[in-house]
Amino acid sequence: MTPGIRPLVAGNWKMNGLKASLAQLTAMASQFDAALARNVDLLVCPPATLVQAAAAAAVGSAIAVGGQDCHANASGAHTGDVSAEMLADAGARFVIVGHSERRADHGETDAVVKAKAEAARRAGLVAVVCVGETRAEREAGKTLAVVRGQLEGSIPAGMTAADLVVAYEPVWAIGTGLTPTAADVAEVHAAIRSDLERILGKTESGKLRILYGGSVKPSNAAELMAIENVDGALVGGASLKAEDFMGIAAAYRG
Ligand code: 13P
Repeated sequence: MTPGIRPLVAGNWKMNGLKASLAQLTAMASQFDAALARNVDLLVCPPATLVQAAAAAAVGSAIAVGGQDCHANASGAHTGDVSAEMLADAGARFVIVGHSERRADHGETDAVVKAKAEAARRAGLVAVVCVGETRAEREAGKTLAVVRGQLEGSIPAGMTAADLVVAYEPVWAIGTGLTPTAADVAEVHAAIRSDLERILGKTESGKLRILYGGSVKPSNAAELMAIENVDGALVGGASLKAEDFMGIAAAYRG
C-alpha cells in the first residue's frame, strides 16, 4: 500500500488454460463491481493462445488482459515467438517480462529482459518486469544486491509509471505455499523503491506500482497488500479460479 498509488492485482495463468477457462474470466468480470473497481485495477495474463479471446471476453469490464512474454523484435524469423505488437493487436495492454520461469527455463538474462521491456514500450504495452532472488541467494544474504542488479539490468532508461510495473517475486515463494515475512517483504519493496529512484528518478519511482508475487492467496492477501510499498499482487495458481482471484482482490474492498 502506498498513498497515491492505485494498486494492481494481476493474474499470471502461466501454461494453463483452454477456451473453457474463459468462463473464469467472465466470472471475474461479473464480480468486479464498481465499489471494488474504485480501489484497484485487475489484469489477467492468459497463455498467448487465449489473449485475443480473453480480450474479447473482457470487453465491457474493467479487467485488462496481458501477455506473459514477448520477443524483443516487432516481427521476423523467430519461429514460435510472439511480439509485443502482436499482443497489442490481439487486445493486450500489458506484458509480463523477465518472469523467473523464463529466466530459468529460457536462459533470459537481464539484457534480454531489458530488450523485451523496450519492445513493450514500443508497442504501447505496460511492461511488468519481474525480479526476485533464489533460496540460495536469500540464505547467502544477497537478496537486496540480486534484486538491485536485476532492476539495473532489466529496466530501460526513461521508463515511466505509465509504462512500467515492477513485480518482486522471490523464486522460492513461487508455487511453494511459502511467503517471506511481512518485514522481509517491506525491506525488499522499500529497497526496490529506492533503486527505482536511482534508475528512473524520484518522480517516476514515487508513482510506480511494485507488486508482490509468490504464493499469494485469499487467506494472506490482506496482510501482504497492507505492507508499505506493496502496491498489488502478481498471482499465479490462485488466479486460475475466479473465486480465489476475486478473494485476493477483495483485500482492496474498503
Ligand atoms: P504462485 O502464486 O502460484 O506462487 O505464482 C506466483 C507467480 O509466479 C506469478 O507470476
